[in-house]
Amino acid sequence: MSEPEILGESLPFDEKIELPGWPGQSADIGSYKAFLEESVRNYESRWADIAKELPWFRTWDSVLTRERHPHVYTWFGGGLLNLSHLALDRHAASSRRDKVALIWEGEPTDESGAPKEVRKLTYGELLRDVNRFAHVLKHRFGLKKGDKMAVYMPLVPEAIVTLLAAARLGVTFTVVFSGFSSESLSSRMSDLGATVLITADGFYRRGKAVLLKGITDKALEQAPSVKHTIVVKRLGVDCPMTQGRDHFLEDLLQGVPELAEVQPEAVESDHPLYVLYTSGTTGKPKGIIHDTGGYAVLLHATMKWAFDLRDGDIYWCPADIGWVTGHSYVAFGPLIEGGTIIIYEGALDFPHPDRWWAIIERYGVSLFYTTPTATRAQMKFGDDNVKKHDLSSLRLIQSVGEPINPSAWRWLFELIGGKRCPVGSTWWMTETGGIMISNLPGLKLTPMKPGANGLPIPGVRADVVDEAGTSVAPGKKGFLVLQNPWPGMPGPPTGMYGDPDRFESQYFSRFPGTDYFFCGDYAIKDRDGYIWVAGRADEVLKVAGHRLGTYEIESAIVSHVSASEAAVVAVPDAVKGEVPIAFVVLKQGHEPSEELRLEVKKWVRDGFSPIAEPSKVFFVSKLPKTRSGKIMRRLLRAVAEGKPMGDVATLEDETSIEEARRAYEDLKVE
Ligand code: WTA
Repeated sequence: MSEPEILGESLPFDEKIELPGWPGQSADIGSYKAFLEESVRNYESRWADIAKELPWFRTWDSVLTRERHPHVYTWFGGGLLNLSHLALDRHAASSRRDKVALIWEGEPTDESGAPKEVRKLTYGELLRDVNRFAHVLKHRFGLKKGDKMAVYMPLVPEAIVTLLAAARLGVTFTVVFSGFSSESLSSRMSDLGATVLITADGFYRRGKAVLLKGITDKALEQAPSVKHTIVVKRLGVDCPMTQGRDHFLEDLLQGVPELAEVQPEAVESDHPLYVLYTSGTTGKPKGIIHDTGGYAVLLHATMKWAFDLRDGDIYWCPADIGWVTGHSYVAFGPLIEGGTIIIYEGALDFPHPDRWWAIIERYGVSLFYTTPTATRAQMKFGDDNVKKHDLSSLRLIQSVGEPINPSAWRWLFELIGGKRCPVGSTWWMTETGGIMISNLPGLKLTPMKPGANGLPIPGVRADVVDEAGTSVAPGKKGFLVLQNPWPGMPGPPTGMYGDPDRFESQYFSRFPGTDYFFCGDYAIKDRDGYIWVAGRADEVLKVAGHRLGTYEIESAIVSHVSASEAAVVAVPDAVKGEVPIAFVVLKQGHEPSEELRLEVKKWVRDGFSPIAEPSKVFFVSKLPKTRSGKIMRRLLRAVAEGKPMGDVATLEDETSIEEARRAYEDLKVE
């Protein structure tokens, strides 16, 4: 494995940045590690202590039950709770009733640069809207606990209302990113067996109206389980409505009493809150199931620890609800804590590159959860963009989604946080439900290192191991594993929706004889025990922090008439972290051309998603494969990057060096 680096920058393992002005507690690494070790030894009781801080309808009988499929556990079995009750009712019944829960800003601006539309909802108002929406779902469509629904929505307040209303009824939902195509939407809805789809007529992106209803109509042709759609009017444009199937939300709400109340359903702790489809190593995306109780406990703990959220804070995470970050740290986490969240509809650089900084200034954002890609994009726009805004309200910054290169970390720390804010890089994934490895300024702030994720959170045992599952020496690259169950992990009944075998083989078969959860990431542990995640070690791509599978892009390509075979690999990109490139073998009768290259790119954009468009398309006569038919991806990457073949061949099982070398040379010539 090559030298540890992130985007070509070497990692400052020994640098330690302290923040004497941080009003929370600080800790030296040694004593903090002793504290962590105790929490890991007694992880069940430590998690139970945290669970006790939340209001349950009924307390659990046992903290952790290991009786399902080999690695599917029940956390807080016997406990009853409801997430919308946690996120709304308890706040609306307290002094937080008139506190602003949600601030929404639409993308369009007037000549002065001010947003044309801003909506604010207090906890009392959000609860009212959620009750009314839940009333529609329950009384008009008969949805009840255990039913399934799908959500395909832009970032509008109704999206948050939708998730909370589903949680209120115990209806398991799946959100599909509004940048995915109709095929992605229909396959997810069908896999889950959703009966109702909540969507919108469209939204604004970079000044253009993006229409959604046409896409959902196409998706519905392939998703017979869906009997009804509810359409939120965001744009107010004409859209095709199928009688009896499609309903505008505003029409449905007309029949609902202003003060309608729908009691939050007391669901079992292991009741599936949602299923989120995410890209794995092979095949189609699979649905990761998240429970209710364990998930709530993890979110509560990490909101306190990683974000130090308090009354008075304005919290902003610009993630889309289509990704797990939007579920955990836009919608549920901060609202469980009674925070004020911001959601913004549009692009970060529209109409001017300073839009994000204007938002931070406008609302006095104090807690900011950003991404490395956004940071690098902003660095390119230049510091003046930032300097014309007053960012003094900020007091804490976290990053997520991909490794952060040290210079991007420094830019956040120095320029955005003015050297007063802790800056961290929270490592986690769709499967973990919430943050697993991070600095925790709300608990104890340990010295920061530019680019590091840090130590695992209390109760979580993580390590970096070699192929055999043995802990590697400090500074050496290996595979990241989680060694104990954690609350928020993929939940009952099967971890992966409808596919317990794949759940077991994808995550738990890599290190036989252990119970290690294989994360799929390369990582390095330094001498202080800090973990530095360095990128994916499998066929998953992180493009601008978005998780995509090579298989999904390849399938989109080969659905084009001209393509017989395709291989997609990721190459480093200075802004997006990595981008996909495609090698395509054409069918007989089709010739490589610039036109065809552009057409293939467009095909992926329209057929799968704009974020998946290959940055380069190479036409080749054949793909290098191992004898068992596996594509030699590392070799493709080496060719694309113009790198020497190096030890590539030895990394591809079953392939002789000679064969690999020949394939490499042939490809280079082409
Ligand atoms: C990557 C996103 C380095 C990692 C929450 C992981 C990170 C994948 C970080 C999961 C980070 C996420 N530093 N890498 N702070 N956060 N990753 O499921 O490769 O969309 O496996 O969840 O993102 O992506 P997912």
